[in-house]
Amino acid sequence: MSVLVCVTGRNNDKLMAKLNEALPDVKIELWPHCEDLNRVQFVLAWNAPDELWAQLPNLKVVQSYGAGVDGIALDKLKPDVSVARIVDEQLSADMAEYVLSHVLANKLRHREYATNQGHRNWKPRRAKKGNEVGILGLGELGRVTAELLGHHGFSIRGWSRTQKCISNVACYAGEAQLEAFLSGIDYLVCLLPLTQQTKGILNAELFSQVPPNCVLINVARGQHLVEADLLVALDNNELEAAVLDVFSTEPLSESHPFWSHPKVTVTPHVAAVTNMDTVVAQIAANARACLGNNPLENRVDLGQGY
Ligand code: NAP
Ligand code: GLV
Repeated sequence: MSVLVCVTGRNNDKLMAKLNEALPDVKIELWPHCEDLNRVQFVLAWNAPDELWAQLPNLKVVQSYGAGVDGIALDKLKPDVSVARIVDEQLSADMAEYVLSHVLANKLRHREYATNQGHRNWKPRRAKKGNEVGILGLGELGRVTAELLGHHGFSIRGWSRTQKCISNVACYAGEAQLEAFLSGIDYLVCLLPLTQQTKGILNAELFSQVPPNCVLINVARGQHLVEADLLVALDNNELEAAVLDVFSTEPLSESHPFWSHPKVTVTPHVAAVTNMDTVVAQIAANARACLGNNPLENRVDLGQGY
């Protein structure tokens, strides 16, 4: 068998060196170079081209190089192919820290003071009172984020597909409880996977159900958000501000209105970046599991799409 690495949009020299070190007896190639596509059984993928999958007749496992698997065309895989993803403590900790830092920055008015500084304007104000944080998605990242914000004194509620019971988190589940979950929140954090059910969930109807002081933090995927609806909601004061780490099209085009919008903070998909040092061991373990027909770690439920 051989392993094919198809992690696009970055330099993979270090990743290849680490994988070769972890799997010294396995042939590892970097797409688009591949001596024999028939020998590929395991692909490490990030934004791999959809056409790749039909060229690999003996593919058994696709391992995502991130937590999300929406960059893998799941519908183009043969039914006997399994998919695994990254679950990593460091990734979860990084995400939680990113969300906490933006909630605090908003609460403590960092952006307002940065603008005031530009005008030499001395204008002290109290921190904002709002303390209710709602997290869409109570999975690996949502739970750790809930815990960290809870430790910092925020009141946490979370929404998931199936009912959860987590201490110090008010848990809501399913469509039927979404409105109650949204009511009265000060910060709305999106940590859902991108699926047919969650695409476009951050839309005008949802924005109309949160209070006008609510700050949206989207750290999941750009396609969760209907961008035009957000601009309208911000301009009509239906939402206070938005922190966006992910976008429908990345990189965000230079002409996009988000860059210069006074209520939008843009970061370049950096909330939780896969850490090569902490994830190579689980990728290598899954490659070995594939080779030995053993169960995979962090396998994705292809029926649910996450
Ligand atoms: P996860 O462990 O799979 O958790 C997903 C959560 O979303 C679960 O609680 C799940 O509910 C819930 N969910 C899924 N579909 C739902 C639906 N239709 N209605 C309500 N809840 C639903 O995922 P994760 O590891 O926490 O990662 C979440 C996402 O974060 C990834 O998919 C990725 O897109 C994004 N991400 C972004 C960055 C970044 O740098 N910006 C980094 C890493 C990941 P159940 O618990 O009931 O199944
Ligand atoms: C990053 O966005 C990931 O899914 O890991």
